[in-house]
Amino acid sequence: MSVQTDAGEEESSESHFFETALAEDGWQASWIGAEEEEPRHPVFFREIRPEKEVLSARLYICGLGLYEARWNGEKIGDEYLTPYCNNYHSWLQYQTYDVTEQMKQAGTLSVELGNGWYNGRYGFIRRPQPYYGDGKKLIAQAVLTYADGSKEVIGTDESWQVSRSNICFSNIYDGEQRDDTLPAAETAGAMSVKPPRGKLTARYSLPVRAWEVLPVRQILHTPAGETVIDVGQNMTGIFRLRVHEPRGTRIRLQFGEILQEGNFYRDNLRSARAEYIYVSDGTARTLEPRFTFYGYRYVKVEGIADLRAEDFSAPVLYSRLPRTGYMTTGNPLVNQLLSNVSWGQKGNFLDVPTDCPQRDERMGWTGDAQVFSGTACYLRDSYPFYVKYLHDMYTEQEALDGAVPDVIPGFGMTSVSAAWGDAACVIPMKLYEMYGDKSILEKQYDSMKAWVEYIYRVDGEDFGWRRRFHYGDWLALDGAEPDGCRGGTEESYIADTQYRHCVLLLTEAAEILGYADDSAKYARLAETLLARIRDEYFTPTGRCAIPTQTGYLLALRDKTAPDESRIVQALQKKLADNGGRLQTGFVGTPLLCPLLTKYGDSEAAFALLLHEEFPGWLYAVKLGATTVWERWNSVDENGRIAENGMNSLNHYAYGAVAEWMYRDVAGIAPISPGFRKALLAPHMHRDLGKVEAKYLSAAGAWESAWEILENGDVEYRCSVPFGCTAELKLPYGGGEYLLEPGVFQRTYTPDVSWGADMKSKKNEEEKQ
Ligand code: BGC
Repeated sequence: MSVQTDAGEEESSESHFFETALAEDGWQASWIGAEEEEPRHPVFFREIRPEKEVLSARLYICGLGLYEARWNGEKIGDEYLTPYCNNYHSWLQYQTYDVTEQMKQAGTLSVELGNGWYNGRYGFIRRPQPYYGDGKKLIAQAVLTYADGSKEVIGTDESWQVSRSNICFSNIYDGEQRDDTLPAAETAGAMSVKPPRGKLTARYSLPVRAWEVLPVRQILHTPAGETVIDVGQNMTGIFRLRVHEPRGTRIRLQFGEILQEGNFYRDNLRSARAEYIYVSDGTARTLEPRFTFYGYRYVKVEGIADLRAEDFSAPVLYSRLPRTGYMTTGNPLVNQLLSNVSWGQKGNFLDVPTDCPQRDERMGWTGDAQVFSGTACYLRDSYPFYVKYLHDMYTEQEALDGAVPDVIPGFGMTSVSAAWGDAACVIPMKLYEMYGDKSILEKQYDSMKAWVEYIYRVDGEDFGWRRRFHYGDWLALDGAEPDGCRGGTEESYIADTQYRHCVLLLTEAAEILGYADDSAKYARLAETLLARIRDEYFTPTGRCAIPTQTGYLLALRDKTAPDESRIVQALQKKLADNGGRLQTGFVGTPLLCPLLTKYGDSEAAFALLLHEEFPGWLYAVKLGATTVWERWNSVDENGRIAENGMNSLNHYAYGAVAEWMYRDVAGIAPISPGFRKALLAPHMHRDLGKVEAKYLSAAGAWESAWEILENGDVEYRCSVPFGCTAELKLPYGGGEYLLEPGVFQRTYTPDVSWGADMKSKKNEEEKQ
């Protein structure tokens, strides 16, 4: 197949096809289980003999908690951790595999089940039973289409048999244990079991695969006498280890993110054991865990006499997210930061957007998800990933009267918070803005509305919402306790402001979808809320009564201040009084650089970005971070981890700064949703030197690049994709242009002396 443009360009592609999921009544199989739950994981199997010539074969399957399907012992497909993680009470995902090649001949289909999120230890609600799970269960059906057009369906039922594997322990937090010295297990008949509660549904989850495999960077022998593998990058995934130890040898791997005084360390994983234990039967083989994953850079290895680098590798697991954002700058530290942000996404986009991938949490925290969503969409095509998350979110809301629990899937958590549950309104609008597809608003409209209506009810006549518990500006540096979690911005103010913010987003969604009554209704509500906010948090003459960086930023974002210029000045003064340093947490940080830039002080925004000491993004980079940390001070100058209670080194939230870098530094921002029309408005800084960025938008590839030359001139180049238009605004007298598709280039002498009135230069002078 090929297409041609008016300009005679031609692109061709191989033909592709799609096929639909099973019809509603397409399941003929029934759920099966094993006689009794024992630690050794069950393996269900049955022989399949095609009766005639096979034209095509499909396997439809869901196994709980996790499943791995094999044909004659070979893994089917290349996905990990299926059937993935969601609100299992409401729905269960099945996957479809093309098994035509396998099922042309007779063979054995087998399926091993692990515990995973469904049946294993996971989540905050600790109870004897897992929250969703009720045992290991399997449903599967192979559909063979024969050359003569007839079909045969082979589904799970009591004719299947069950044996046991050598995996005798698995869960998400603690890892896996396998003992190859166990005797061969007995075989028994599978039994039919009560179907689980959720509705079997065709998958929403993207495939999780090993998209890259990291080699060993070095093998360390630590002062404490440990053997530790360093893969050179904090990442999320599993491992492959070639073992050849004598029978009965016990091998143990433990995973951690950082060394302390040169020794292996993992106390910040809290109760997560994050290990793999293997007892060898003396056969050389490659080990790979099946039903767990780890967030790690370092692996402590015990039980292997001559560990060799080539025997170990680190498959990196994340959901399918084609890369869309590319950026490099003239500053190596900033480039490393961009790499860290990108690894933050890979590490926390394993089916669910998680807070972190390593400790006993790894949950879909809504607050983290919403602040990072813009960055996620620049870096990678995140649309279908969030579609699943948002779909799941609404299933939780349906059972909670519209409330969005703090984590999705909820795993029994029912607590809610401003800025966290707001993900229900923020993410759909972000997706619409970035991808231009209204259907996400159509799909999520009820969820957005349910969240707003929920707050409305809680708020009532007496400001119930602001009196609730809220996380506030989580981990900000201006809180009462220096190392505490609570920031200094009054939570009630954040709650009221965020509530109105959601109402504004809902109003916009209603307008876009043509729901005139709703848009009028919510516009009125936003007005009422504005009046209330002004009454409570602004003095009659326009001073903001919440005098924190985040307080001012929220006022600017939503234009709640009666007099904006006062707030801009107050923010600048606040920053200056703090030595030009940030104090913001989860709520304020994503707003900081964008709003300073918007209100004309990109210089202050660059100063924050380029600040190399604590607190700031480059502080971690300078200390060797390869991912974004949870706290501004997760690690001190001496490399000591600040605390163990809540301190992850792979937390993507503060990586939200990358959205600003794409939007305002490279200057590629949508004017129309989906980037058919974009604003190219780069911001430049001598210490960054240059930027080269590309964004593969839904409408085509945008490029924007600038460089400050030796003589102070600016060179700018951009390219506008086919069918798109751009408004270009070059700073410092570079001019404004309306651009058609194609490449535009300009070199000019800026009307700024980079030396004299730029703070960066001043700093340099001060240093000399
Ligand atoms: C998580 C956060 C989350 C927070 C709620 C933490 O334990 O790791 O990132 O948003 O709890 O405040």
